[in-house]
Amino acid sequence: MSWTNSRNAELKQRAAQVIPGGMYGHESTALLPADFPQFFRRAEGTRLWDADDNEYIDYMCAYGPNLLGYRQPEVDAAVRAQMQLGDTLTGPSEIMVTLAEDMVAMLSPADWAMFCKNGTDATSMATVIARAHTGKRKILVGKGVYHGAAPWCTPGPAGILSEDRGHIVYYRDQDPQSLAEAVAAHAGDIAAVFATPFRHETFRDQSEPDATFAREARRLCDAEGAVLVLDEVRAAFRLSRDGAWAALGVKPDLTSIGKVIGNGQPISALVGLEPLRKAASSVYVTGSFWFSAVPMAAAVATLKIIRESDYLERLQRTGRLLREGLAAQAAAHGFALRQTGPVQMPQILFEDDPEMRLGYFWAAAAVRRGVYLHPYHNMFINAALTETDVAQTLEATDAAFTALKAQDRAGLPLERPVVRDRLERAALLSA
Ligand SMILES: Cc1ncc(COP(=O)(O)O)c(C=O)c1O
Repeated sequence: MSWTNSRNAELKQRAAQVIPGGMYGHESTALLPADFPQFFRRAEGTRLWDADDNEYIDYMCAYGPNLLGYRQPEVDAAVRAQMQLGDTLTGPSEIMVTLAEDMVAMLSPADWAMFCKNGTDATSMATVIARAHTGKRKILVGKGVYHGAAPWCTPGPAGILSEDRGHIVYYRDQDPQSLAEAVAAHAGDIAAVFATPFRHETFRDQSEPDATFAREARRLCDAEGAVLVLDEVRAAFRLSRDGAWAALGVKPDLTSIGKVIGNGQPISALVGLEPLRKAASSVYVTGSFWFSAVPMAAAVATLKIIRESDYLERLQRTGRLLREGLAAQAAAHGFALRQTGPVQMPQILFEDDPEMRLGYFWAAAAVRRGVYLHPYHNMFINAALTETDVAQTLEATDAAFTALKAQDRAGLPLERPVVRDRLERAALLSA
Protein backbone atom coordinates (compact mmCIF):
# COMPACT_ATOMS: atom_id res chain seq x y z
CA MET A 1 0.00 0.00 0.00
CA SER A 2 1.43 3.39 -0.89
CA TRP A 3 2.08 5.96 1.79
CA THR A 4 -0.61 8.64 2.26
CA ASN A 5 -1.26 11.23 4.91
CA SER A 6 -4.65 12.72 4.12
CA ARG A 7 -6.33 11.51 7.33
CA ASN A 8 -3.45 12.87 9.37
CA ALA A 9 -3.71 16.25 7.60
CA GLU A 10 -7.45 16.35 8.29
CA LEU A 11 -6.94 15.51 11.97
CA LYS A 12 -4.29 18.20 12.28
CA GLN A 13 -6.76 20.73 10.91
CA ARG A 14 -9.46 19.64 13.36
CA ALA A 15 -6.96 19.64 16.23
CA ALA A 16 -5.86 23.18 15.39
CA GLN A 17 -9.43 24.33 16.21
CA VAL A 18 -9.67 22.72 19.65
CA ILE A 19 -6.16 21.96 20.94
CA PRO A 20 -3.73 24.84 21.58
CA GLY A 21 -1.15 24.80 18.80
CA GLY A 22 -2.86 21.70 17.39
CA MET A 23 -0.62 19.68 19.70
CA TYR A 24 1.84 20.48 22.47
CA GLY A 25 4.84 18.99 24.19
CA HIS A 26 7.46 16.52 23.07
CA GLU A 27 5.15 14.52 20.84
CA SER A 28 4.22 17.54 18.76
CA THR A 29 5.49 17.20 15.21
CA ALA A 30 5.76 20.98 14.79
CA LEU A 31 9.56 20.84 14.50
CA LEU A 32 9.62 17.70 12.38
CA PRO A 33 9.48 17.39 8.59
CA ALA A 34 5.98 18.15 7.36
CA ASP A 35 5.19 14.55 6.42
CA PHE A 36 5.75 13.14 9.90
CA PRO A 37 2.44 11.72 11.13
CA GLN A 38 1.05 13.44 14.23
CA PHE A 39 -1.70 10.93 15.02
CA PHE A 40 -1.52 7.16 15.41
CA ARG A 41 -4.14 4.48 15.42
CA ARG A 42 -2.67 1.28 16.79
CA ALA A 43 0.49 -0.59 17.61
CA GLU A 44 1.70 -4.14 18.13
CA GLY A 45 5.18 -5.42 18.98
CA THR A 46 7.63 -3.15 17.26
CA ARG A 47 5.08 -1.87 14.70
CA LEU A 48 3.05 1.29 14.73
CA TRP A 49 0.23 2.37 12.41
CA ASP A 50 -0.61 6.02 11.87
CA ALA A 51 -4.03 7.58 11.38
CA ASP A 52 -3.82 6.79 7.65
CA ASP A 53 -2.95 3.16 8.47
CA ASN A 54 0.63 3.49 7.23
CA GLU A 55 2.74 0.87 9.02
CA TYR A 56 6.10 1.70 10.61
CA ILE A 57 8.89 -0.11 12.37
CA ASP A 58 8.96 2.26 15.32
CA TYR A 59 12.26 3.50 16.73
CA MET A 60 10.72 6.08 19.09
CA CYS A 61 8.85 3.59 21.29
CA ALA A 62 6.41 6.28 22.50
CA TYR A 63 9.50 8.39 23.36
CA GLY A 64 10.68 5.63 25.67
CA PRO A 65 7.89 3.79 27.49
CA ASN A 66 7.70 0.86 25.07
CA LEU A 67 10.47 -1.44 26.28
CA LEU A 68 9.18 -4.94 25.53
CA GLY A 69 7.03 -4.26 22.48
CA TYR A 70 3.60 -2.69 22.24
CA ARG A 71 0.78 -4.80 23.71
CA GLN A 72 3.22 -7.27 25.21
CA PRO A 73 1.01 -10.32 25.97
CA GLU A 74 2.00 -10.94 29.64
CA VAL A 75 1.79 -7.25 30.51
CA ASP A 76 -1.55 -6.93 28.71
CA ALA A 77 -2.88 -9.99 30.58
CA ALA A 78 -1.84 -8.44 33.92
CA VAL A 79 -3.60 -5.21 32.92
CA ARG A 80 -6.80 -7.05 31.99
CA ALA A 81 -6.77 -9.12 35.21
CA GLN A 82 -6.35 -6.03 37.38
CA MET A 83 -9.07 -4.20 35.43
CA GLN A 84 -11.48 -6.93 36.52
CA LEU A 85 -10.67 -6.13 40.15
CA GLY A 86 -10.50 -2.36 39.98
CA ASP A 87 -8.09 0.40 39.15
CA THR A 88 -8.47 3.82 40.79
CA LEU A 89 -9.95 3.08 44.20
CA THR A 90 -10.24 4.81 47.57
CA GLY A 91 -6.82 3.45 48.45
CA PRO A 92 -4.05 1.45 46.82
CA SER A 93 -4.26 -2.30 46.22
CA GLU A 94 -1.92 -4.98 47.50
CA ILE A 95 -0.09 -4.72 44.18
CA MET A 96 1.51 -1.44 45.33
CA VAL A 97 3.34 -3.22 48.13
CA THR A 98 4.40 -6.05 45.79
CA LEU A 99 5.70 -3.53 43.27
CA ALA A 100 7.68 -1.63 45.91
CA GLU A 101 9.15 -4.95 47.14
CA ASP A 102 10.14 -5.84 43.57
CA MET A 103 11.83 -2.48 42.98
CA VAL A 104 13.75 -2.70 46.26
CA ALA A 105 14.84 -6.27 45.48
CA MET A 106 15.98 -5.40 41.95
CA LEU A 107 17.67 -2.02 42.34
CA SER A 108 20.80 -1.60 44.46
CA PRO A 109 20.08 2.14 45.00
CA ALA A 110 16.57 1.36 46.37
CA ASP A 111 15.76 0.78 50.04
CA TRP A 112 12.29 2.18 49.44
CA ALA A 113 10.07 3.21 46.51
CA MET A 114 7.33 5.77 45.87
CA PHE A 115 5.11 5.78 42.79
CA CYS A 116 3.68 8.58 40.70
CA LYS A 117 2.64 9.08 37.09
CA ASN A 118 5.24 10.93 35.03
CA GLY A 119 8.96 11.47 35.14
CA THR A 120 8.38 15.10 36.09
CA ASP A 121 6.51 13.96 39.19
CA ALA A 122 9.49 11.86 40.23
CA THR A 123 12.17 14.49 39.57
CA SER A 124 10.12 17.25 41.23
CA MET A 125 9.51 15.00 44.23
CA ALA A 126 13.30 14.45 44.41
CA THR A 127 13.91 18.22 44.74
CA VAL A 128 11.42 18.44 47.61
CA ILE A 129 12.79 15.40 49.44
CA ALA A 130 16.37 16.62 49.00
CA ARG A 131 15.48 20.01 50.47
CA ALA A 132 13.55 18.40 53.33
CA HIS A 133 16.54 16.15 54.03
CA THR A 134 19.24 18.83 53.93
CA GLY A 135 17.38 21.99 54.88
CA LYS A 136 19.30 23.62 52.00
CA ARG A 137 18.12 25.36 48.85
CA LYS A 138 20.27 24.92 45.75
CA ILE A 139 19.59 22.27 43.14
CA LEU A 140 22.48 21.71 40.70
CA VAL A 141 21.52 20.48 37.24
CA GLY A 142 23.40 19.95 33.97
CA LYS A 143 22.94 22.80 31.52
CA GLY A 144 20.36 21.85 28.89
CA VAL A 145 19.50 18.54 30.55
CA TYR A 146 15.83 17.63 30.44
CA HIS A 147 14.33 16.73 33.82
CA GLY A 148 10.70 17.39 32.90
CA ALA A 149 8.18 20.14 32.26
CA ALA A 150 7.62 21.74 35.70
CA PRO A 151 8.59 25.41 36.14
CA TRP A 152 11.90 24.52 37.88
CA CYS A 153 13.09 22.49 34.89
CA THR A 154 11.06 23.04 31.71
CA PRO A 155 13.18 24.07 28.72
CA GLY A 156 10.47 26.46 27.46
CA PRO A 157 10.78 29.94 28.99
CA ALA A 158 7.14 31.05 28.36
CA GLY A 159 5.20 31.62 31.57
CA ILE A 160 8.18 30.90 33.81
CA LEU A 161 9.44 33.42 36.37
CA SER A 162 13.10 33.82 37.20
CA GLU A 163 11.98 33.17 40.80
CA ASP A 164 10.80 29.69 39.74
CA ARG A 165 14.44 28.88 39.08
CA GLY A 166 15.90 31.12 41.74
CA HIS A 167 17.78 28.26 43.38
CA ILE A 168 18.59 26.23 40.31
CA VAL A 169 22.31 26.27 39.49
CA TYR A 170 23.69 24.98 36.18
CA TYR A 171 26.92 23.07 35.55
CA ARG A 172 28.25 21.69 32.28
CA ASP A 173 26.58 18.31 31.83
CA GLN A 174 28.78 15.28 32.56
CA ASP A 175 31.78 17.52 33.34
CA PRO A 176 33.36 16.79 36.74
CA GLN A 177 35.34 20.02 36.83
CA SER A 178 32.34 22.19 36.05
CA LEU A 179 30.36 20.34 38.73
CA ALA A 180 33.18 20.85 41.26
CA GLU A 181 33.19 24.60 40.47
CA ALA A 182 29.40 24.86 40.89
CA VAL A 183 29.60 22.97 44.19
CA ALA A 184 32.39 25.26 45.42
CA ALA A 185 30.43 28.37 44.41
CA HIS A 186 27.38 27.34 46.44
CA ALA A 187 28.98 25.34 49.24
CA GLY A 188 26.88 25.26 52.38
CA ASP A 189 23.57 25.71 50.56
CA ILE A 190 23.31 22.70 48.23
CA ALA A 191 20.32 20.39 48.58
CA ALA A 192 20.89 18.19 45.53
CA VAL A 193 23.03 17.47 42.52
CA PHE A 194 21.04 16.07 39.59
CA ALA A 195 22.68 13.96 36.90
CA THR A 196 21.57 11.63 34.12
CA PRO A 197 23.33 8.29 33.50
CA PHE A 198 24.84 9.71 30.28
CA ARG A 199 24.16 12.74 28.08
CA HIS A 200 21.05 12.18 25.97
CA GLU A 201 19.86 15.62 24.95
CA THR A 202 18.10 16.58 21.72
CA PHE A 203 20.17 17.93 18.80
CA ARG A 204 23.42 16.82 20.46
CA ASP A 205 25.73 13.83 20.36
CA GLN A 206 25.18 11.48 23.27
CA SER A 207 27.87 10.30 25.66
CA GLU A 208 28.41 6.94 27.34
CA PRO A 209 28.10 6.48 31.12
CA ASP A 210 31.28 7.97 32.57
CA ALA A 211 32.79 6.50 35.74
CA THR A 212 34.97 9.55 36.40
CA PHE A 213 31.99 11.89 36.39
CA ALA A 214 29.79 9.51 38.39
CA ARG A 215 32.44 8.99 41.11
CA GLU A 216 33.25 12.69 41.31
CA ALA A 217 29.54 13.55 41.63
CA ARG A 218 29.28 11.03 44.49
CA ARG A 219 32.43 12.35 46.17
CA LEU A 220 31.35 15.99 45.93
CA CYS A 221 27.88 15.22 47.30
CA ASP A 222 29.37 13.27 50.21
CA ALA A 223 31.81 16.07 51.03
CA GLU A 224 29.06 18.68 50.84
CA GLY A 225 26.28 16.67 52.51
CA ALA A 226 24.18 17.08 49.34
CA VAL A 227 21.78 14.52 47.88
CA LEU A 228 22.88 12.86 44.63
CA VAL A 229 19.88 12.35 42.34
CA LEU A 230 20.28 10.15 39.28
CA ASP A 231 17.53 10.90 36.78
CA GLU A 232 16.94 7.59 35.02
CA VAL A 233 13.53 8.52 33.67
CA ARG A 234 14.75 8.00 30.11
CA ALA A 235 17.41 5.32 30.50
CA ALA A 236 16.10 3.03 33.26
CA PHE A 237 16.29 -0.67 32.43
CA ARG A 238 17.67 0.05 28.97
CA LEU A 239 21.28 -0.08 30.19
CA SER A 240 20.99 -2.53 33.04
CA ARG A 241 18.59 -4.61 35.14
CA ASP A 242 19.95 -2.64 38.11
CA GLY A 243 20.52 1.13 38.39
CA ALA A 244 22.41 2.59 35.42
CA TRP A 245 25.46 3.53 37.54
CA ALA A 246 25.57 0.23 39.48
CA ALA A 247 28.17 -1.12 37.03
CA LEU A 248 30.31 1.96 37.79
CA GLY A 249 30.12 1.28 41.52
CA VAL A 250 28.23 4.51 42.25
CA LYS A 251 25.01 4.59 44.28
CA PRO A 252 22.85 7.69 44.01
CA ASP A 253 20.77 8.69 47.04
CA LEU A 254 17.65 9.13 44.96
CA THR A 255 16.83 7.67 41.53
CA SER A 256 13.92 8.85 39.40
CA ILE A 257 12.55 6.19 37.08
CA GLY A 258 9.82 6.65 34.50
CA LYS A 259 8.71 5.69 31.05
CA VAL A 260 9.36 1.93 30.91
CA ILE A 261 8.23 0.49 34.22
CA GLY A 262 4.68 -0.28 33.09
CA ASN A 263 5.72 -0.89 29.44
CA GLY A 264 3.45 1.98 28.43
CA GLN A 265 1.02 2.08 31.35
CA PRO A 266 1.22 5.42 33.19
CA ILE A 267 3.51 4.96 36.16
CA SER A 268 6.85 6.33 37.33
CA ALA A 269 8.81 5.99 40.54
CA LEU A 270 11.27 7.59 42.87
CA VAL A 271 13.48 5.18 44.78
CA GLY A 272 16.01 6.02 47.46
CA LEU A 273 18.54 4.91 50.02
CA GLU A 274 17.82 4.44 53.72
CA PRO A 275 19.12 7.84 54.94
CA LEU A 276 16.52 9.59 52.73
CA ARG A 277 13.56 7.59 54.05
CA LYS A 278 12.72 10.01 56.85
CA ALA A 279 12.62 13.04 54.53
CA ALA A 280 10.62 11.04 51.96
CA SER A 281 8.07 10.23 54.69
CA SER A 282 7.83 13.88 55.72
CA VAL A 283 6.90 15.57 52.41
CA TYR A 284 3.35 15.91 51.12
CA VAL A 285 3.27 14.48 47.60
CA THR A 286 0.32 12.83 45.90
CA GLY A 287 -2.03 12.76 42.92
CA SER A 288 -5.52 11.46 42.14
CA PHE A 289 -4.15 8.69 39.92
CA TRP A 290 -0.83 7.92 41.61
CA PHE A 291 -2.19 4.83 43.38
CA SER A 292 -4.14 3.28 40.49
CA ALA A 293 -3.66 -0.46 40.49
CA VAL A 294 -3.69 -1.25 36.76
CA PRO A 295 -0.37 0.48 35.92
CA MET A 296 1.13 -1.14 39.01
CA ALA A 297 0.03 -4.57 37.80
CA ALA A 298 1.60 -3.75 34.43
CA ALA A 299 4.79 -2.74 36.23
CA VAL A 300 4.96 -5.97 38.25
CA ALA A 301 4.59 -7.95 35.01
CA THR A 302 7.18 -5.78 33.20
CA LEU A 303 9.73 -6.12 36.01
CA LYS A 304 9.28 -9.90 36.01
CA ILE A 305 10.17 -10.00 32.31
CA ILE A 306 13.12 -7.70 32.96
CA ARG A 307 14.36 -10.12 35.64
CA GLU A 308 13.69 -13.36 33.83
CA SER A 309 14.22 -12.79 30.10
CA ASP A 310 17.14 -11.89 27.82
CA TYR A 311 15.37 -8.65 26.76
CA LEU A 312 18.48 -6.54 27.53
CA GLU A 313 20.84 -8.69 25.50
CA ARG A 314 18.35 -8.56 22.61
CA LEU A 315 18.19 -4.74 22.79
CA GLN A 316 21.99 -4.66 22.65
CA ARG A 317 22.18 -7.13 19.75
CA THR A 318 19.61 -5.48 17.51
CA GLY A 319 20.84 -2.01 18.46
CA ARG A 320 24.38 -2.97 17.44
CA LEU A 321 23.18 -4.53 14.17
CA LEU A 322 21.31 -1.36 13.31
CA ARG A 323 24.28 0.87 14.14
CA GLU A 324 26.75 -1.20 12.13
CA GLY A 325 24.37 -1.52 9.20
CA LEU A 326 23.69 2.21 9.06
CA ALA A 327 27.37 3.12 9.33
CA ALA A 328 28.25 0.82 6.41
CA GLN A 329 25.34 2.10 4.35
CA ALA A 330 26.14 5.74 4.99
CA ALA A 331 29.77 5.19 3.97
CA ALA A 332 28.72 3.36 0.80
CA HIS A 333 26.57 6.34 -0.16
CA GLY A 334 29.29 8.87 0.69
CA PHE A 335 27.81 10.17 3.95
CA ALA A 336 29.14 10.02 7.51
CA LEU A 337 26.86 9.55 10.49
CA ARG A 338 27.51 10.39 14.11
CA GLN A 339 25.87 7.50 15.95
CA THR A 340 26.40 8.10 19.65
CA GLY A 341 25.44 6.77 23.06
CA PRO A 342 24.48 3.22 23.99
CA VAL A 343 23.30 1.21 20.95
CA GLN A 344 19.95 0.51 22.63
CA MET A 345 19.25 4.28 22.69
CA PRO A 346 20.59 5.47 19.34
CA GLN A 347 21.15 9.10 18.44
CA ILE A 348 21.81 9.53 14.71
CA LEU A 349 23.10 12.83 13.36
CA PHE A 350 24.85 13.55 10.06
CA GLU A 351 28.41 14.90 9.93
CA ASP A 352 28.73 18.18 8.13
CA ASP A 353 25.03 19.01 8.47
CA PRO A 354 24.92 22.21 10.52
CA GLU A 355 21.30 22.99 9.64
CA MET A 356 20.18 19.38 9.70
CA ARG A 357 19.06 19.49 6.08
CA LEU A 358 20.53 16.01 5.44
CA GLY A 359 19.15 14.54 8.65
CA TYR A 360 15.68 15.93 8.08
CA PHE A 361 15.47 14.74 4.49
CA TRP A 362 16.81 11.28 5.32
CA ALA A 363 14.52 10.70 8.33
CA ALA A 364 11.48 11.87 6.33
CA ALA A 365 12.47 9.57 3.45
CA ALA A 366 12.71 6.65 5.93
CA VAL A 367 9.29 7.49 7.37
CA ARG A 368 7.77 7.43 3.90
CA ARG A 369 9.30 3.97 3.50
CA GLY A 370 7.84 2.56 6.72
CA VAL A 371 10.59 3.20 9.27
CA TYR A 372 9.89 5.79 11.97
CA LEU A 373 13.21 7.50 12.72
CA HIS A 374 13.76 10.82 14.46
CA PRO A 375 16.14 13.43 13.05
CA TYR A 376 17.33 14.97 16.34
CA HIS A 377 15.97 13.10 19.39
CA ASN A 378 17.57 9.97 20.75
CA MET A 379 15.64 6.87 19.74
CA PHE A 380 14.83 3.65 21.59
CA ILE A 381 15.15 -0.01 20.68
CA ASN A 382 12.46 -2.31 22.07
CA ALA A 383 12.78 -6.01 22.81
CA ALA A 384 10.21 -7.02 20.17
CA LEU A 385 12.53 -5.77 17.40
CA THR A 386 13.99 -8.75 15.55
CA GLU A 387 17.00 -9.13 13.29
CA THR A 388 14.53 -9.44 10.38
CA ASP A 389 13.02 -6.08 11.39
CA VAL A 390 16.51 -4.56 11.38
CA ALA A 391 17.15 -6.00 7.90
CA GLN A 392 13.84 -4.50 6.71
CA THR A 393 14.80 -1.20 8.34
CA LEU A 394 18.11 -1.20 6.50
CA GLU A 395 16.37 -1.74 3.17
CA ALA A 396 14.30 1.38 3.80
CA THR A 397 17.26 3.44 5.01
CA ASP A 398 19.31 2.35 1.99
CA ALA A 399 16.57 3.72 -0.26
CA ALA A 400 16.47 6.87 1.89
CA PHE A 401 20.24 7.35 1.43
CA THR A 402 19.83 6.85 -2.33
CA ALA A 403 17.08 9.49 -2.39
CA LEU A 404 19.23 11.84 -0.32
CA LYS A 405 22.23 11.39 -2.62
CA ALA A 406 20.09 12.24 -5.62
CA GLN A 407 19.22 15.62 -4.08
CA ASP A 408 21.07 18.81 -4.81
CA ARG A 409 22.38 19.49 -1.31
CA ALA A 410 21.97 23.26 -1.43
CA GLY A 411 18.41 22.74 -2.64
CA LEU A 412 17.41 20.62 0.34
CA PRO A 413 14.72 22.46 2.22
CA LEU A 414 15.33 23.92 5.64
CA GLU A 415 12.15 22.45 7.00
CA ARG A 416 11.63 24.71 9.96
CA PRO A 417 13.53 27.94 10.55
CA VAL A 418 12.91 27.41 14.25
CA VAL A 419 15.23 24.41 14.09
CA ARG A 420 18.06 26.85 13.54
CA ASP A 421 17.25 28.50 16.89
CA ARG A 422 17.21 25.13 18.58
CA LEU A 423 20.57 24.24 17.08
CA GLU A 424 22.04 27.50 18.25
CA ARG A 425 20.69 26.89 21.75
CA ALA A 426 22.19 23.39 21.72
CA ALA A 427 25.55 24.82 20.63
CA LEU A 428 25.41 27.33 23.49
CA LEU A 429 24.75 24.51 25.93
CA SER A 430 27.83 22.66 24.74
CA ALA A 431 30.03 25.72 25.22
C1 LIG B 1 15.78 12.38 31.85
C2 LIG B 1 14.33 12.74 31.93
N1 LIG B 1 13.83 13.22 33.08
C3 LIG B 1 12.54 13.56 33.19
C4 LIG B 1 11.67 13.43 32.13
C5 LIG B 1 10.24 13.84 32.29
O1 LIG B 1 9.43 12.71 32.17
P1 LIG B 1 7.89 12.87 31.83
O2 LIG B 1 7.82 13.34 30.43
O3 LIG B 1 7.34 11.50 32.00
O4 LIG B 1 7.32 13.86 32.81
C6 LIG B 1 12.15 12.94 30.92
C7 LIG B 1 11.27 12.82 29.76
O5 LIG B 1 11.67 12.59 28.66
C8 LIG B 1 13.52 12.59 30.81
O6 LIG B 1 14.02 12.12 29.66
